[in-house]
Order: sequence, then C-alpha cells, then structure tokens
Amino acid sequence: MDSRDVTFSGYMVYCGLMASLTSLCIGYVIGSPNVPETSIRGTDGNCDSSASFSGFPDCLEFSDLLWGFAVGSFCLGALVGGLSGGTVQNLFGRKRTMFISNIFFILGALLIALTYHQAQFIVGRIVIGFACGLGGVVAPTYVGEISSIKGRGTMGTMFQLLIVVGILLSNLIGLGLSTGYKWRILFAINALPALIQMFLLPSLVESPRYLVSRNRLEEARVSLQKLRGAGANIEQEFADIVQLLLGRGSSTAVPSNQDSAFEEAKVDAEAAVPATNTGASKNYSIMRLFTSECSGLAIIGILVHFLQQASGINGLIYYSTTFLGDVFGAGNSKYITVGVSCCNLLATLGSVALIDKSGRRTLLLVSFAGVSLSSILLVIGAYTDVGVLVVVAVFLYTAFFAIGLGPIPWLLLSELLPTYALSSASAVATAVNWGTNFVIGLVFPSLNKGLGNGTFILFAAFTAFGFLYTWFFVPETRARSIEEIMAEKGVAPRTDYM
Ligand code: GLC
Repeated sequence: MDSRDVTFSGYMVYCGLMASLTSLCIGYVIGSPNVPETSIRGTDGNCDSSASFSGFPDCLEFSDLLWGFAVGSFCLGALVGGLSGGTVQNLFGRKRTMFISNIFFILGALLIALTYHQAQFIVGRIVIGFACGLGGVVAPTYVGEISSIKGRGTMGTMFQLLIVVGILLSNLIGLGLSTGYKWRILFAINALPALIQMFLLPSLVESPRYLVSRNRLEEARVSLQKLRGAGANIEQEFADIVQLLLGRGSSTAVPSNQDSAFEEAKVDAEAAVPATNTGASKNYSIMRLFTSECSGLAIIGILVHFLQQASGINGLIYYSTTFLGDVFGAGNSKYITVGVSCCNLLATLGSVALIDKSGRRTLLLVSFAGVSLSSILLVIGAYTDVGVLVVVAVFLYTAFFAIGLGPIPWLLLSELLPTYALSSASAVATAVNWGTNFVIGLVFPSLNKGLGNGTFILFAAFTAFGFLYTWFFVPETRARSIEEIMAEKGVAPRTDYM
C-alpha cells in the first residue's frame, strides 16, 4: 500500500498522543490556580500557618492585583517561549525541544509546589509559562510533521482537545486538593505528564521532515517507514518530502555543508508546519509584513487573536470559583467550575466535528454573537442577584466560545496568509495572544471586584465589536485557496516568493 493512502498507524497515533502530553500540561497550567485560589491566599479562613506542612506555609497573602499578576505571569514566560520556539526547534530538533520544555515544566511545578514566598510562586509561574510557550510551538509542529496526509486534520485537533482536558483535570484534582497545604500537591502534579513524556521520548522517532531539512536522509527514511507501518511503501511520500524541503530528488547526492538549497528548505519546512510555529522566517520580516501587500490580511488574523483573549475567556478559566463564589458560596462554585470545564470539552468536541463542514466565518460570527449576548446575560444575572441566570450565562458563554473563538484564530492565520508571510504573522499573533491573556489575568480580579461582577460588560463590548468586524472584514477561508482570498481583498500574491 502506498503510504500516502495510510490514514492512521498505531505507532503514528502513539507518537502523536505522547507529544500531545505537552498540551495536557499547558491546559493544567492554565486551569490549576482556579479551584484552590481561596486556600492558597488564605481567604477561606482556614489558613493556619502554625499547622504548616514540612515547614512550608499553608497559604500566602496576595492582594487582588498581586494574585492577578501571579496567575497571569505565566503568559509572560509563554511569550518568550513562544517567540523562541521556532528557532529552538530548528536548532535542536523536535524531540530535544520537547525534552527542554519538559525540564521547564518540571522546574516550574517544583518551584510553585515548594513555594516559601509570593515571589517564588510568581517565578515558578513564569518558568512553567516558558515551557507552555516552547511546548505550544514544538508539539503541534511535531504532530503536524509526523501525521499522514489523510490523518493530519484529526491528529491536529488532538492538541486543542488535550488543552481543554488539561484544564478539566486540574479542576477535578483541585476539588480534592484545595484545603490546607494540599494545593502544593495539585501544582506538583503538573510535572507528571512532563516526566512521562520525558521518559518515553526515546521511544518516539524524530520528525522525518526535520531530519530531511538537516540532510539526514537515511534516518528520515527509517523514521517515515516506522510511522507509516512496515507494510507501507513510503518511496513516493519520501520523494515528495525531499523535493519539497530540499528542492531535489531523494536519490540526488546531498552536499554535507548547508548550501543555499538547504536554507530554502529550512524556510519551507518552517512554513509547512501549523501556524503555531513562530520560527524566524527568511521571508518577510515583521516590519516588511506590515508594509507589504499582506498587511491587511495579517491585521485581520492578528486582531482575531486579540479578540479571542479580549472575550474574557480566561477571566472565567482563571477566576470562576472566586467570582461565582460571590453568588453561590465558595463550596458550590468549585463544582460549577468543573461543570464549566466539562461544557468546554463537549463544545470543543462539537467544534471538531463542525469545523470542516460549516465555514470558519459562520462559526466565528455565531461564537462572537453568542459570547457577547451571554456576557450581557451574566451581568444582568449578577446585578439582579438571580443565581440561575448567572450559571446559565456562564455555561452558554463557554459553549459559544469553544465552538468558534477557541480553535479558529490559530487555524485562520495559516489559511489567510501565503507561506512567505506566515512565520512573521504567527510570531506577532502569538505575542498578541499571550500579551492580552496576561493583561486580562492581571486586571480581572481587581476590576471585577470594583465593578461588582460587571466586568463582563466590557467583554460583551469587545465581542460585539468582533461580530461586526468579522461581518465586514473577515473572509471565508474554508475550502478556498489563499490566492482566491487575496483576490477578494484586491491584492495579488508575490509569485517570486511562493
Ligand atoms: C484557547 C485560548 C486559551 C484559553 C482556552 C480555553 O485555547 O487560547 O487562552 O485558556 O482556549 O479553552
């Protein structure tokens, strides 16, 4: 059987799942401070520093603003990790980059679990955030590169799904580990999937595309054969990869030095991977991007990333237990948080099923409108003290977010922009995404207290703007070529760069 007809092989799925343990870690980092917030800060009234665990204090005093900084600070690390991810993975290879990100996951988890002081907690969050940024680039790149052509779509959704699973797991474990010192164990558990991946890394093959881009053709051939199964004939697929990345036939003698064909191949290899790859591009620089014919499309993609975060989703993901606690009491709100994470998972599964059937634009419009209206409902519920309205609004909000605004921004960028503009645009989009995430995490607790749970009115305004912006400016990208989309916007792609 020709390997291009293979959809899945057991080993390929195994490698994909093991790499996606990274997204489980990322989801866990995002979700873990939510449920135990009051016991970490000692605001549940149970903070007894004399009953501390092995000499560590049970709780740490954080003002609202400092807690916001502590929770959001991982985004600062992620910003740096995300921006360096492309370079690191091209320099060291995909497996070694996963190894490096695991070291930071473990180090960060330990720093937080063994915290003596607020500053150490924050440093731990920044360190683990760096792992999220780096892992968030390399894991989807690796999964994209090892997948068969036919299985790539489904394999790609694994990453997003496991982030949401990670958030849910952290909430569930948090239910059992949020009294006294136990939150420390909750944070330590973050190291576990990273440790498992680290030990299993030797059983995964290196990405064949990476190996080809490094001129290691024989190793690449062995790796591809293993991924497609012993019975598959990989000759044509292998030749295609070599042609794409090195611009020559797979049997052509390969010079050992890195010649100009290799440099071109590196650019192609970077561009061939998902939009989360923020590798430095030999093509358009960031400055060039914004003065080029692609600037309009790049701004659309980047603004949608901004709006994903300005929807306020992480206000909910980081702080729902506390702000719902004002309405329902802390005990109940923990369970609502777990319910919200289940809803997030179910709706994400729905989005996976819908994304290739409905257009991206349609899903985005429904998502923006739904999130905006649910935010208004939430504020009405909070101001009129009607608890049931608040709960319904929070669930609706999450479901509407997960079907469109959650997954589409990343997808959209790679469908809007030609190869030569993608790396720079992805770098800016990653920075905007993590940067806005940080600001929301930082200001939400203080703002929400000040506005008496009214913060969501701001998010309603942002998402209403998002609806109008999408309506007037965001083109449909499903099943359309970039050339068609650029033509719709009245710009011509540069053929000398394609
Ligand atoms: C998306 C967002 C992330 C958020 C998550 C919630 O992945 O990028 O910030 O926490 O959705 O499901």
